[in-house]
Amino acid sequence: MKPIILVAGSSNTDMVVKTSVLPRPGQTVLGGQFFMNAGGKGANQAVAAARLGGAVVFVAKTGADIFGSQAIEQFKKEDIDCRYIFCDPAVASGVALITVDAAGENCIVVAPGANDRLGAADVLLAREAVLQADIVLVQLEIPLETVDALVELAVAAGKRVILNPAPARVLPDRLLKRISLITPNEKEAELLTGIPVVDADTALLAAKALSVKGIGTVIITLGKKGALVWDGRTSAVLPAPKVEAVDTTAAGDVFNGALAVALAEGRELTDAVGFANHAAALSVTKLGAQASAPGREETELFMEQGRK
Ligand code: RIB
Repeated sequence: MKPIILVAGSSNTDMVVKTSVLPRPGQTVLGGQFFMNAGGKGANQAVAAARLGGAVVFVAKTGADIFGSQAIEQFKKEDIDCRYIFCDPAVASGVALITVDAAGENCIVVAPGANDRLGAADVLLAREAVLQADIVLVQLEIPLETVDALVELAVAAGKRVILNPAPARVLPDRLLKRISLITPNEKEAELLTGIPVVDADTALLAAKALSVKGIGTVIITLGKKGALVWDGRTSAVLPAPKVEAVDTTAAGDVFNGALAVALAEGRELTDAVGFANHAAALSVTKLGAQASAPGREETELFMEQGRK
């Protein structure tokens, strides 16, 4: 039986340009290849979780346009339950403008469109699905009151909630204290705690500061260095496998989707983070967001190779 993962969040169409260097403010650079790709942090996490073995229910909102319908078509191909993807004909579907440099680093601007209209009332319509979920995963490309309503519903039903606090924003303590597990990257951890995260020691300080707010488990993702895990008693840095980076877009999303599946399957925290590190590393070797999310077999084979 596949574990049920409920993901609530954004769906975007990514407009991507490859360039040798990212432009500075006021600068125009001549880039290279352009492509359109399905993205959005919520949708990327939902697709990653589905490919890695989760039965995924996705709660989201699109506009009544071609971008929205193409995204939903793709979710159906991934066997994602789309019953709670709402449509608001008054707004456009979400779009992200992305530039990716030669080292695979990116710059992203999001026009949220319909993502901003996913409301607390929509989440309440998905109540049945929340009650059936093994784990709930949410990020911050939808309104904060929607995140709040989902967390309240999930926690009242005794569900574990993973909050991926991306994109970075200040969050109220009353929200943080209800989260079971939080997964900021270095920059997001700094914004949430005021502690600049530059290495494993400062990551641990930030993780401890977050657990003081009442979060049971903190995982700070450290890019190619892996992830720091703090469960309130012990900490560990789990290294990421080394890969040739092509595009880091959505690596964090793949990490979160994989983590949700592994935890919902009952795997130990460090095992789950190891699995997520491998899935995220594989995603970095390919261009695009959802296009780069690996499957279960590919990820397990990659882990197996690392053990040899
Ligand atoms: O995390 C990567 C995602 O951020 C992109 O797919 C883009 O749509 C933005 O939401």
